[in-house]
Amino acid sequence: MSRAPDPLNVVVNKSAIRRALLSWYDRAGRTLPWRVRDAPAHPYRVWLSEIMLQQTTVAAVKPYFENFLIRWPTVAALAGAPRDDVLAAWAGLGYYSRARNLHACAQALAANGFPTDEAGWRALPGIGPYTAAAIAAIALDQPANVVDGNIERVMARLFAVQAALPGAKSALRAHAASLVSLHRPGDWAQALMDLGATICTPRKPACGACPLQRWCAATAARDAETYPRKAVKAAKPERVGAAYFLTHTNHVLLVRRPDKGLLGGMMALPSTAWRAEAWSEPEIIAAAPAPGRWRKLGVVRHVFTHFGLTLEVWTASTRAKPEGAWRAITELDAAGLPTVFAKAASLGAAAT
Ligand code: ADE
Ligand code: SF4
Repeated sequence: MSRAPDPLNVVVNKSAIRRALLSWYDRAGRTLPWRVRDAPAHPYRVWLSEIMLQQTTVAAVKPYFENFLIRWPTVAALAGAPRDDVLAAWAGLGYYSRARNLHACAQALAANGFPTDEAGWRALPGIGPYTAAAIAAIALDQPANVVDGNIERVMARLFAVQAALPGAKSALRAHAASLVSLHRPGDWAQALMDLGATICTPRKPACGACPLQRWCAATAARDAETYPRKAVKAAKPERVGAAYFLTHTNHVLLVRRPDKGLLGGMMALPSTAWRAEAWSEPEIIAAAPAPGRWRKLGVVRHVFTHFGLTLEVWTASTRAKPEGAWRAITELDAAGLPTVFAKAASLGAAAT
């Protein structure tokens, strides 16, 4: 007979669970550029990495983290950098409000020093409850309750939580809180992150290699992969727009997007608004940044958090050069374009 899920099993074994996971972490935890072992963590590195890791994978973050540390080795250096340099160095990482907040936060940290508790971090720009908890745990070794998507999944499985996300979030948080370790709390948080990323993965969790298997209700019932339960999501809305690749003697016109709004403050190709209704060709030509013989090169697709975008790319060359930020087409890689515009610009560059 298979064992029924038994949440009590985990309740009575908390200290054994903590020991098992910490000793697994000592053996099998990941080596990451912002992580130090057996020495106090560096708050600047922890803060920078946690901002970059918001909604972004470890693999995507690594090269950006290393580049930022080379260019700006201290928080004072980052605070003193021109904001546009920071935005350009962030290009490609996505969620650009993070870069604007990062720069503002660096200035607060350089002026006032690093906060010494979770509430102090929470009060800074760009730092939500998750990031404040992660920094308090990792940089300050304080027993904060760090709960990201990976940790939610581990808790849902360990306790066989039947409630569906997103409604189950508070129950999953409470389970995580009940396990927080007062001994090595920073390593505890990172061990849970690593378990979720490498063993207790969304698909095909490696329960046979898991240090928590003895206590896990989901694996006991042989249905680990079905957790966390999820409410069915509404489909993402779709939007359409056009971007303009306007050239003048091997240069292309760029614009800086307004601070408020999507991709705020970032360099971009000129573009129509992005909306639900289709754009007609006359509308697209009327909205172009200069008159000219505009022709359509193709489309690029990009999926943002709240909508999918199909962006037509149009090109023309102009002899009369409008005012603006002109960039050599061969130097577009260094222009700091966010991914959707980098894709559009490479269509344009290939056509010239
Ligand atoms: N995701 C968010 N923070 C992380 C960290 N410090 N290590 C690994 N993955 C993370
Ligand atoms: Fe996740 Fe399996 Fe470990 Fe349970 S036993 S925590 S489901 S990897």
